Amino acid sequence: ATIREFRRTLLAWYDQEGRNLPWRRDHEPYHVWVSEIMLQQTQVNTVIPYYENFMATFPTVTALANAEQADLLKAWQGLGYYSRARNLQRAAQQLVTDYHGEWPRTAAGLADLVGIGPYTAGAIASIAFGEAVPAVDGNAFRVFSRLLLIDDDIAKPQTRKIFEQVIQPIVDPERPGAFNQAIMDLGSSYMTAKNSDPAHSPVREFDASYREDRVDEFPVKTKA
Ligand code: ADE
Repeated sequence: ATIREFRRTLLAWYDQEGRNLPWRRDHEPYHVWVSEIMLQQTQVNTVIPYYENFMATFPTVTALANAEQADLLKAWQGLGYYSRARNLQRAAQQLVTDYHGEWPRTAAGLADLVGIGPYTAGAIASIAFGEAVPAVDGNAFRVFSRLLLIDDDIAKPQTRKIFEQVIQPIVDPERPGAFNQAIMDLGSSYMTAKNSDPAHSPVREFDASYREDRVDEFPVKTKA
């Protein structure tokens, strides 16, 4: 099984079966960014109406930068983790003031904005700007640990770098954003934490944990 075959199989499945989500209607960095921040600690189905309302209320980076904090917190009410909303506005102000409204177009550059960690930087860079970088969240840990039998402890902070290095050459250089979002969709369908269904997964032929009947052993995670 080659990397090219894996990409082709994954993306063909994503093109047919990938979820139609409101933040996938275009690749505007503002849309990708706000959705990724909301999705950090909140389920997709909960995020959808908040995302729609947020975009109706604050349609641009400038609108967000200039918003009253009370209006912002009201739009966030129910999502929790309010520091996310405050950081979102601070980053919008950074973009307007320090970047003249021009987005950094790489993961490394994006990571200088408030509230954008390695995962979010990879997601925005790949989806909005087509940079071939991984976006390593819980889904990517789960999917790639199973496909490749990676047994590094995902509770350890150093482990993210190991996954980034392993996944980097696998990311499709033509469609990195679709590749990363396909991994997210796999991680929330056939390759979930509980009740996964690896036998019907579109990438089962690339799944070493399924082949060895060891799906439940991955990812390795020590208790906190
Ligand atoms: N979880 C985090 N980012 C996501 C995205 N872009 N689509 C679906 N689920 C996600």
